[in-house]
Amino acid sequence: MTVIKINAITVPEGSGDELARRFAARAGAVDDQDGFEGFELLAPTDGRNVWLVVTRWRDEAAFEAWSTSPAFGHGHRSQQERSGGEAPPPVSTQSELWSYRPAGGSGDAAGAADS
Ligand code: HEM
Repeated sequence: MTVIKINAITVPEGSGDELARRFAARAGAVDDQDGFEGFELLAPTDGRNVWLVVTRWRDEAAFEAWSTSPAFGHGHRSQQERSGGEAPPPVSTQSELWSYRPAGGSGDAAGAADS
């Protein structure tokens, strides 16, 4: 069954545009991953500073495989690499992984959840 993994990223005020640019630059990077069903980057419009990366996967195993793969590491640099000075510093100050499952609804999103 489809699983939904949400990365909730805290972004300081004024840095959202840069985050969106970085995602746009890497948007296709995960497309070929087995079991990947899509992702959406959601920007807050109610004054919060938490952006959401909502990703959908065929099952837990597919997400686990990606998140422990070199492909994931490539797009997500380690703390050490960041402090190395060469790479631009991360935009985020904090992030949290949330796990969800489809539990009902209507419209396109619910349809996708059934597949
Ligand atoms: C639920 C799955 C995901 C997890 C757990 C995750 C994890 C993280 C974490 C911990 C950060 C903040 C640390 C950092 O700035 O490097 C981050 C930022 C980022 N992630 Fe992900 N991520 C996920 C999905 C994705 C996807 C699908 C993409 C696009 C292919 C992506 C691309 C990025 C980019 C571009 C940043 C900004 C890095 C920067 O500030 O330079 N992430 N992610």
